[in-house]
Amino acid sequence: MSEIPIWIAHDPVSEHVLEIARKVAETSTTILITGESGTGKDQLARLIHELGPRRDAPYLKIDCASLPQELVESELFGHERGAFTGAVERKLGRLEMAGLGTIALDEVAALSTAIQAKLLRVLEERSFERLGGTETLSIEARLIALTNADLQRAVAARRFREDLYFRLSVLAIHVPALRERRADIVPLAEHMLARLAAVHGRDGAVLSDAARHALENYDWPGNIRELKNAIERAVIFGKGTMLLPEDLPESIRTADSGAVAGMRSLEDIEREAIQKTLDGTHYKITRAAEILGISRKTLLDKRKKYGLQ
Ligand SMILES: Nc1ncnc2c1ncn2[C@@H]1O[C@H](COP(=O)(O)OP(=O)(O)OP(=O)(O)O)[C@@H](O)[C@H]1O
Ligand SMILES: [Mg+2]
Repeated sequence: MSEIPIWIAHDPVSEHVLEIARKVAETSTTILITGESGTGKDQLARLIHELGPRRDAPYLKIDCASLPQELVESELFGHERGAFTGAVERKLGRLEMAGLGTIALDEVAALSTAIQAKLLRVLEERSFERLGGTETLSIEARLIALTNADLQRAVAARRFREDLYFRLSVLAIHVPALRERRADIVPLAEHMLARLAAVHGRDGAVLSDAARHALENYDWPGNIRELKNAIERAVIFGKGTMLLPEDLPESIRTADSGAVAGMRSLEDIEREAIQKTLDGTHYKITRAAEILGISRKTLLDKRKKYGLQ
């Protein structure tokens, strides 16, 4: 059994998504998960699998967009020996291999119309044949379809079958964009920071108030994936134990209105003053404390806080 994926949900909007996930995890209904790229659709599909009675069976994912469609078909349904050139032996498809588990169809909008038709039959009759086969097999697995495309528009453009769309959208869960659940930004950033700091040997790294402010004021078009990348970059390039706005990518810093106007937090200014004084006194603590007008102890505490070595 694998571990339950973490689903950080501080914003009421994502708490609601989590509540739905808990409920549907207990059922066998087909689910459609929609949302922009990087919002956590994969993570949610996995969570639904792990929260429900299927958790001990496999969770198998097929990326419908990156594989050639012929391969998607044989990955899904399997094939008999000789079904096509190169089919030298029987191969089981994911529908069979998943058993009582879950099959995630990632980027379902990319499926060819031929596979869409076959998939509809699978959903309606709960049965299928391997490619080149005659034996009808029944399916026990739950299907979760994922998409960041607007399926309704794909239906209007006749790129996606309307009947399949209706069948899939009986139970649709929308994962909101990160900018629509701003209360999640800092908890997510802190969660990622703790994990990535451990990976990169920077345990104990924390966000400065100014960095937190910059993160909260950015729109995150790339959603949680972009946030994760920004934190990783800051962990790698940041110097002290405290991550500062300057450790974040330019786009995030300039989106922060304070930064645009050249305004900075007191914390930022204090850090810089201490750094300069320490440099100027060649790290003579007593002298630096005198110049800054603070006690040695306060200076040492602040030096530790800002990670100035
Ligand atoms: N609620 C959450 N709590 C913690 N981490 C999360 C959460 N949601 C997503 N993540 C993390 O964010 C990253 C992006 O999530 P995921 O891959 O699930 O997005 P996606 O919607 O499937 O994106 P795409 O459309 O590009 O495939 C992953 O590293 C995932 O672990
Ligand atoms: Mg994904």
